[in-house]
Amino acid sequence: MPRRFLIRTFGCQMNRHDAEALAGLLERAGLVPTESESEADVILFETCSVRTHAEERVYSLLGRLKPVKRRRPSLLIGVIGCMAEKDREEIFRRAPHVDFAVGPGRLDEVPALIAGLAPGACSVLSGQKPSLELPSALADRREHPWSAYIAISRGCSNRCAYCVVPAVRGELVSRAPGEILAEARELVAAGAAELTLLGQDADAYGRDFCGGTGPHLADLVRSMGRLEAEGLRRLVFVTSHPRDISEDLLRAMAETPVACPYLHMPAQSGSDRILAAMRRGYTAERYRQIVAAARRIIPGAEIASDFIVGFPGETEEDFAATETLVRDMEFQQIYVFKYSPRPGTFAADQLADDVPTEVKKARNNRLLAVQRTISLRLNRAMVGKTVAVLVEGASQRDDRRLTGRTRTGRIVVFARDARTRSGQLVNVRVDSATALTLAGERA
Ligand code: SAH
Ligand code: SF4
Ligand code: F3S
Repeated sequence: MPRRFLIRTFGCQMNRHDAEALAGLLERAGLVPTESESEADVILFETCSVRTHAEERVYSLLGRLKPVKRRRPSLLIGVIGCMAEKDREEIFRRAPHVDFAVGPGRLDEVPALIAGLAPGACSVLSGQKPSLELPSALADRREHPWSAYIAISRGCSNRCAYCVVPAVRGELVSRAPGEILAEARELVAAGAAELTLLGQDADAYGRDFCGGTGPHLADLVRSMGRLEAEGLRRLVFVTSHPRDISEDLLRAMAETPVACPYLHMPAQSGSDRILAAMRRGYTAERYRQIVAAARRIIPGAEIASDFIVGFPGETEEDFAATETLVRDMEFQQIYVFKYSPRPGTFAADQLADDVPTEVKKARNNRLLAVQRTISLRLNRAMVGKTVAVLVEGASQRDDRRLTGRTRTGRIVVFARDARTRSGQLVNVRVDSATALTLAGERA
């Protein structure tokens, strides 16, 4: 009987991609996937450390496995990813029934570890192995054949004051463009209509290449644009750091028909004082200029953003500046996070977490309310228009409906019919809208 594995995934798209790479590696080693916890011989948590909340959820799920492990000592439990790198041995103190912890830099060693682990022997693999193949190079198994992630770099060499990512994922290492292109070509040949390029700071791509003279993300976008002839329809990249966006990149997006007119470009705050304390390297005015340039150069460009509320020292006045920025920018979408101190970061070690939880919560809700009104207005303006939708599958709420996304990432639901399949590109005429979704009929 082959051993069965189950992976539970948390965190960002890079983590989801790591999880599919891991699944591919395990299958290659002869294990088979299962969705059932009671059937699984190996349960893996692909974890995130970006906020306390993400970690607490994993510790609580691990706690629930304690009696299961007591009944079934042969069950292997592994903590993989960012939490494994950050907490290391601490994991065994909090959850002694965990068998091993493997950081993102040593993902490729998980199958051998599972094969060789003696019962009762706890093991931690951490650190960034320079020879680690990027997850994409490992993934021969994608969640959806029609939409695939490609990692263009790993790690991050920025030092945003609040962020744990550089500590757990190491310095920026960009992948050779030829390797990325070869993988993209293979994925498109296998049916990928959409490719999402992943990097913590995608715009920093290539900065670590010898001499720093390129190639850059703009060159990658231009060369990947040629895959349109082979069937590529959409090219997206995440995440954009406002400081690192170049006009050349915006021009490359405008010139490349398959490049989606969409940027996920976190502002984090609208207050210059807070942006400086966060060490983001731009002002609110500079952010506005980049958004204006993106909209001038790329027709129909839409922008999504992230914000942290309650960063140390954030006053009502600072927060008001953030609200103003959100009001003025008319983002397609925003993600708002309550500041969570991460041990080892500059902000956690040097600045007092002085904004009370209640205030963080209230600011979080106020900012979301501002955006809700904007999203509703922008979505309502789409009613009566026809949009191109890449079909993802049945709607989770109502399986008589299908769901998909526009070129700028807006969610569209429409009636299911026999001819429409996941991965297909269809036209939908929008007839109603909420702040989060557009609804309509196939045109
Ligand atoms: N590399 C990406 C993702 C970073 S994590 C980027 O730079 O955009 C995703 C988001 O989580 C960040 O944009 C930020 O808004 C939020 N975040 C990061 N660290 C945080 C912390 N300590 N507390 C609260 N939110 C945080
Ligand atoms: Fe973290 Fe900043 Fe790097 Fe994003 S750019 S991963 S927020 S350090
Ligand atoms: Fe979380 Fe690690 Fe991604 S900390 S956001 S899973 S890089």
